[in-house]
Amino acid sequence: MNLSRRHFLEGAGLAGLAAIAPDFAKAGPMPDTPADIAPDIHAKDSAYWEKIASQYHVTERITNLENGFWGIMANPVLADYQRQIERVNAENSMFARGGYNEEEDAVRARVAKSLGVSTDEIALTRGATEALQNLITGYNRLRPGDTVMYADLDYHSMQYCMNWLTERRGVKVVRFAIPEPATREAVITAYREAFAQNPGVRLLLLTHLSNRTGLVMPVSEIAAVARENGADVILDAAHSWGQFEFKTKELGVDFTGFNLHKWIGAPLGVGAMYIRRDRLSDIDLCMADENNPADDIRSRVHSGTANFAAYLTVPSALDFHERIGPAYKEARLRYLRNRWVHALRGHPGLDILTPDDPAMHAAITSFRLKGKTAKEDNQAIVRALAEEHNIFTVWRTGIAAGDCVRVTPALYNSEADIDRLVAALRTF
Ligand SMILES: Cc1ncc(COP(=O)(O)O)c(C=O)c1O
Repeated sequence: MNLSRRHFLEGAGLAGLAAIAPDFAKAGPMPDTPADIAPDIHAKDSAYWEKIASQYHVTERITNLENGFWGIMANPVLADYQRQIERVNAENSMFARGGYNEEEDAVRARVAKSLGVSTDEIALTRGATEALQNLITGYNRLRPGDTVMYADLDYHSMQYCMNWLTERRGVKVVRFAIPEPATREAVITAYREAFAQNPGVRLLLLTHLSNRTGLVMPVSEIAAVARENGADVILDAAHSWGQFEFKTKELGVDFTGFNLHKWIGAPLGVGAMYIRRDRLSDIDLCMADENNPADDIRSRVHSGTANFAAYLTVPSALDFHERIGPAYKEARLRYLRNRWVHALRGHPGLDILTPDDPAMHAAITSFRLKGKTAKEDNQAIVRALAEEHNIFTVWRTGIAAGDCVRVTPALYNSEADIDRLVAALRTF
């Protein structure tokens, strides 16, 4: 492997991507998901998935296996977004002060329905960050001397937000490491032990699917452990909704932040905050909000003038997601993930950081070359994959056992894309 220092992004790599304009002519008709086919069988139907891939306009300059930052919109969603932008722009405040509120209410109701919760339990946000920051900072049951807790695999800015509670609420912060390699039992035991060692924990930050390794947490079991210990859970579901199926109410968590611009495929700038109806009073009004009544969840977030067009495009994104079918989408993403993981599991010199237990992963999975735990090592691997194999991945840090490289396929990726990664990693 030539770990060249040449900066890929500054060179021939991604410079110039801004010039790409959508070419809808390339998109074929949207195929129907065949009835009566098990999702894991349908996941291998390359002809169908090629038609789905043709619904996305994707750069051909590189094989993008870094779809975890956000999810690109499918062409019909992008077309609707462009229409919405033009409409909002043309109608200006006449629209924003006119019918917008009713349309936003309909979007909110659609999001709630899709998540299986009541409309009055959902507020739209500009992303998971806004939802989670409002939940963490607004949680008003902490008392000076209490403890709050999170793990190494939680998202960095949510960890910072939990740390902020030290000054703001006078609490102690405990951080612990998720065991590696992770198993369901080992993860639950780690949470159980962390609570046993820290009896003052009253609030736990928990991430449904870690952006660092792709590990999916057994949320309902951990939430039960938290409850037994007198702690509430704020769940970071930034990556889970749309990547795999679950029922919000069955997670046993009362406060959750979601994203729609990752795996639901909505335009950038859309998320959602869930607060179980009877827990609303445990989250403070956002900055003493008076725009909405105190018993309305929308008083717990105040985004100011937001991207109306992005919110209005949410129904198109959910239509596209539902037209494929969440179970079929999940199965295809798992199939692409398993294709590289199964080919390389056990490869000497390579550690794959999520287990094969289907309950413990979805599309995202990270790897580490044995012993290569430093930032520089992993950045060099990402650079080599880009420069020598034309494959885009990302380095991730913050894991107690060391840094790693994350691989995130999307629906438009093909088997050939994955096989290129496997061939590349075999040369390392
Ligand atoms: C686990 C996790 N939580 C929260 C966020 C924040 O999401 P956003 O930046 O879209 O608000 C991210 C973003 O990547 C994430 O991966």
